[in-house]
Amino acid sequence: MATITTGIDAISFYTSRYFLDLKTLAEARGTDFNKYYTGLGQEKMAIPPPDEDIITMAANAALPIIEENDLEDLELLLFATESGVDQSKAAGLFVHGLLNLPKRCRVVELKEACYGATVGLQMAMGMVQRNPKAKALVIGADIARYELASPGEPTQGCGAVAMLVSANPRILAIDPEAGLFSDDVMDFWRPNYRDQAVVDGKYSTRVYLNALGETWKQYSERSGRGYADLARFCYHLPFTKIAVKAQERLAKINGVDLSTDEAEILVTDGLRYNRITGNSYTASLYVGLNSLLDQCVEDLSGKRIGLYSYGSGCVAEYFSGVVQPGYREHIRAAAHRAMLENRTELTFQQYEDIFNLSFPTDGGDHKFAQYRTGSYRLAGVSQHKRMYEKAT
Ligand code: HMG
Repeated sequence: MATITTGIDAISFYTSRYFLDLKTLAEARGTDFNKYYTGLGQEKMAIPPPDEDIITMAANAALPIIEENDLEDLELLLFATESGVDQSKAAGLFVHGLLNLPKRCRVVELKEACYGATVGLQMAMGMVQRNPKAKALVIGADIARYELASPGEPTQGCGAVAMLVSANPRILAIDPEAGLFSDDVMDFWRPNYRDQAVVDGKYSTRVYLNALGETWKQYSERSGRGYADLARFCYHLPFTKIAVKAQERLAKINGVDLSTDEAEILVTDGLRYNRITGNSYTASLYVGLNSLLDQCVEDLSGKRIGLYSYGSGCVAEYFSGVVQPGYREHIRAAAHRAMLENRTELTFQQYEDIFNLSFPTDGGDHKFAQYRTGSYRLAGVSQHKRMYEKAT
């Protein structure tokens, strides 16, 4: 069977309008802010206001794609998240309703920590291979939460990325070869009764880097490509410093002599957004891809990008894609820049107050105050039903 070129035809990123500067956090926690700025490579973390959740972020990310593309042939909506709001109903159905998407469409929620959106992308491409006229919307959206004053606290954040998957994509044609790795480990997890993750931080970082080696090995064997065939590298970004370490590890595996400065050049454009928004779990790798495509001064047309996806627990995948000529006409660099420049800084007290808010569970009618959001907001909850509305 002939292989059809498939991949990302449109891509859009959304994050909260509020952030906490990690200098503020460092001061409150009695830590040298350089530990966060330099040691972790994180400057700011996006904090969702009480009327923002994964569904509003997902709908806000997907809206421009819906407005700018004909989605009559949309047959699949995959919503990857580890911040699910319901044990039964797929989060994607709320988005499907808010965006008035075609009814003849499959809608499913996917979960495997930060890896979920990558399997979504692969499944969507499989569907397009079978029916090249069909399109799929793959969304990753998450809110990263760790206990207050824990080592994970400066690596929180939130965001959503929506990707339209089609045949003959205008932005990134994804290569068919991938390297895979799964292992039953307890590096990071969140039992159903908790709303903050439990993490063995240092161990998780070792597992992440080890899985990179495993996936790369299979990717390079299957594709016949080596380190030099890739022009830039994107990584899952729990904190951006890990990408520099990962790049150094990849160079070492391939016997390439690489200074830290050289490693930084290969990854740096892909880190700019995550450095000021923080971890967004499933969305994180694709926030990094947006950052690379939007921020790289060099024209990446025809260049091959390496992508490393990692989800704790763990599942990892190494894959690649070729940036399509003319991609700059289809990315949303100006909109992303405007969104990131137009955010409100929180005080430490405001951050802690938002963190400590608990979601009403009494089945009563609760209306939520209006904060700054994108086009959709969580208006409240009534009789255990989340109520969404267009933000005014
Ligand atoms: P920690 O114990 O706070 O930090 O934990 P540290 O003491 O290891 O310091 C961090 C770095 O800052 C070190 O650099 C220090 O040297 C440096 P390194 O030695 O590693 O190169 N440092 C300084 N630098 C400059 N000036 C200073 C200074 N002080 C120290 N004054 C950790 C860090 C990442 C473990 C913690 O934040 C954590 O647990 N985070 C959450 C877990 C995580 O992000 N894991 C990453 C891999 S797992 C993953 O990616 C999956 C995930 O996204 C979840 C999912 O899949 O759903 C998390």
